[in-house]
Amino acid sequence: MSVRIDLGERSYPIVIASDLIGDPATFSEIPCGGTAMIVSNVTVAPLYAERLRLALAGKFKTIHAVTLPDGEEYKTWQTLNLIFDALLSHECDRKTVLFALGGGVVGDMTGFAAASYMRGIPFVQVPTTLLSQVDSSVGGKTGINHPLGKNMIGAFYQPMRVVCDLDTLKTLPTRELSAGLAEVIKYGPIADLAFLEWIEANMDRLLVREVDALAYAVQRSCQIKAWVVAQDERESGVRAILNFGHTFGHAIEAGMGYGVWLHGEAVGCGMVMAAQLSCELGLVDADFVRRLRTVVQRAGLPVVGPRLNPVDNAGRYLELMRVDKKAEAGEIRFVVIDGLSHASLRGAPDALVRSVIDACCA
Ligand code: NAD
Ligand code: GLY
Repeated sequence: MSVRIDLGERSYPIVIASDLIGDPATFSEIPCGGTAMIVSNVTVAPLYAERLRLALAGKFKTIHAVTLPDGEEYKTWQTLNLIFDALLSHECDRKTVLFALGGGVVGDMTGFAAASYMRGIPFVQVPTTLLSQVDSSVGGKTGINHPLGKNMIGAFYQPMRVVCDLDTLKTLPTRELSAGLAEVIKYGPIADLAFLEWIEANMDRLLVREVDALAYAVQRSCQIKAWVVAQDERESGVRAILNFGHTFGHAIEAGMGYGVWLHGEAVGCGMVMAAQLSCELGLVDADFVRRLRTVVQRAGLPVVGPRLNPVDNAGRYLELMRVDKKAEAGEIRFVVIDGLSHASLRGAPDALVRSVIDACCA
């Protein structure tokens, strides 16, 4: 199956099926002839890079590879530079096609390298985690972390194609599967209550990785993301709803140290906190908060926020949240929900946010 992301001349397909990576037909519409470079990491490359290389072998004259260290803590300038080092040392020209083979960390960094090498070269996303298949590989957000803020340096840059091979999810650690489910769950409260009901009814199938259930979860998530991104590619408005749970979540990731909590774990817990804030603001009832907490917990995700400071925990959250990209003139803006699959962006008094953090943290 295929989902199209409609962005005029930057439109592209998201292809979703089993056994895609090893099939040369998957890549038939990609301009061929010159050089390709497979960017992966030390965990994913041994599993899938050779299969991808063989599928590309008939299309490209030369195929290079660069293998990055694995982990959110390596989503840095230093690691990004390894991609530039490889491109320059192999004298890659501006027709070189980059293939991002891995999860969101590899995808975000490869996309940023593609956006900036020679001011822009083509790239293909080959996401291999659930999280990257349902979210990060789609929509063109690329970048790296800064010690002072998550994903603070980057560019909007769309891939030519996204290839979601469902078979890759078989080797994913259970904790990573759960992290991906956080971003799947996210689409329910912000855009599609029927999808939330489907997730609740099919959680057990998702957790045992039934291919049909995963296929539907990836497809519906990508459809919703494509619909949002097509309206607002560069996040001047509605795209911000895709950050439901992320303001609290980014504070957890940065406050704990990148990589201690997985991005999806922080987002799962952050969604519970954002739902609680929505409740305190009178937008959603307590039953809906409980419902969301239950589905997040069933996905195997934490629902109680970590303490980021032993003395002033809420103060530390607030400090970290002020560097969120949605903040304006120092005011933190949260994605809030109404329980009817609508989300919006709004500020909240510090005292109210403090009470939510106190209620939601250990
Ligand atoms: P990740 O890239 O760190 O991958 C998770 C772990 O799974 C890594 O250890 C990886 O090596 C391993 N792995 C990947 N595929 C595997 C497979 N098939 N089998 C076995 N192991 C495998 O994490 P992620 O959850 O994929 O992505 C998180 C990142 O995505 C964060 O940096 C986040 O900021 C970013 N993100 C970006 C966007 C966006 O729109 N660009 C959206 C959401 C998240
Ligand atoms: N993951 C949020 C976005 O792509 O906008």
